[in-house]
Amino acid sequence: MAAAPLDGLVTRPPVLVTRPLRDEILSFLRSRCEIEVPEVDRAMPREELLSRVVGKHGLLTMLTDRIDDEVLDVAGGSLRVVANHAVGFDNVDVAACTRRGVVVTNTPDVLTDDTADLAITLLLMVARRTGEGERHVRAGAWTGWRPTHMLGTRVTGKTLGVIGMGRIGQAVAQRARLGFGMRILYHDPFPPPKEALAGLDAERRDTVEEVLAEADFVTLHCPASPETRHLMNAERLARMKRSAFLVNSARGDVVDERALVETLKAGRIAGAALDVYEREPGVTPELLEMESVVLLPHLGSATLETREAMGFRALENLKAFFAGAEPRDRVA
Ligand code: DGY
Repeated sequence: MAAAPLDGLVTRPPVLVTRPLRDEILSFLRSRCEIEVPEVDRAMPREELLSRVVGKHGLLTMLTDRIDDEVLDVAGGSLRVVANHAVGFDNVDVAACTRRGVVVTNTPDVLTDDTADLAITLLLMVARRTGEGERHVRAGAWTGWRPTHMLGTRVTGKTLGVIGMGRIGQAVAQRARLGFGMRILYHDPFPPPKEALAGLDAERRDTVEEVLAEADFVTLHCPASPETRHLMNAERLARMKRSAFLVNSARGDVVDERALVETLKAGRIAGAALDVYEREPGVTPELLEMESVVLLPHLGSATLETREAMGFRALENLKAFFAGAEPRDRVA
C-alpha cells in the first residue's frame, strides 16, 4: 500500500466525495479532511449534488457529475478545488471554474495501460466475434466445430488508425504494433514528439479522413470537447472502408451514435466495438440487436489496481492543493 498521501495538509477542509471509493482511499482522506460521502453507490442525483456542495472547499467528483455554473454558484465562494476522478474532465465546465478561481485536476497516467488493454480487447472481440460466440455457447446453440463457423477477421498485420495519439493512443499503438505486427497510422492535431513513438513506425496523417481511408480498424483516443463532438459523423463514417471496424473507448459523444446505427444497418462498415456511449448509461436500442457490435459498460479503467491508483491520484491532487502547492495534475 502506498504511503499516506495526505501528509502535509494543514487544515481539515470540508470535501464532498460524490461516490463511495475503496475504504483505504477514504480513510486517508478522512484522516485529513472533513469528508462527506454518500452511502449509496449510484451517480449522485442532481438535487443531492446541489444540496451537498454547499460550503465545501473541495469536491472529489466522478465523470457522472456535471460540474457547471449552477453547481459552482450553489457551492459558493468557499469552493477552491475540483479533483476529478478520471483522466477525462469533459463533465467539468473548466471555463466556469476558472472564472471563479476554482482549480481543476484529473487523474492521468495511472489508467493508461488498463484503458489501452481494454481498447485492444474491444478490437479483438469485434474482429473475432467473441461476444457473439459466447452468446452462442451460452444459448446452447453450438452444434460443434465446422470449417465455416463464425469466421471473423484477422487482426495480425492489419492497419490500425489511431485518432488521438496521446498517452492512451500511444499505448494502444504499442500493443498493436509489438503484439500484432499492425501497421500504425495516426492523426492528432497536437502530435507527440517523435521519441514517444520510437519503434512503432507510426505514420502521421494530416487529416482524420486520410486515416479512415486506409485503416482496417479505427480506434478513438481523443478527449471529448466541443471540437471533437460527433467527430465520427455520417460523412466520416462513410469514409471508412466497408471492411473496417470502429473502436471507441474514449467518450461517447465523439461518435454520432445515430449515424453509427445507420452506417451499420446499411453495412457500410463491418462492425463497431464500444465502451462508451452518447447518453450513458443509455445505449441506442438498435445497437443492442446487432451481432456486428460489441458493447461494454465503460470498463476502460476498471481494474482494482487502476481504480485504487486513480483514487490516490485524486487525493494527491487535493493534498497538494490544500497544502498550498501546485497539484501535479492541474488542468485549469
Ligand atoms: C476516464 O478516466 O476518463 C475514464 O473514462 C474512466 O474510466
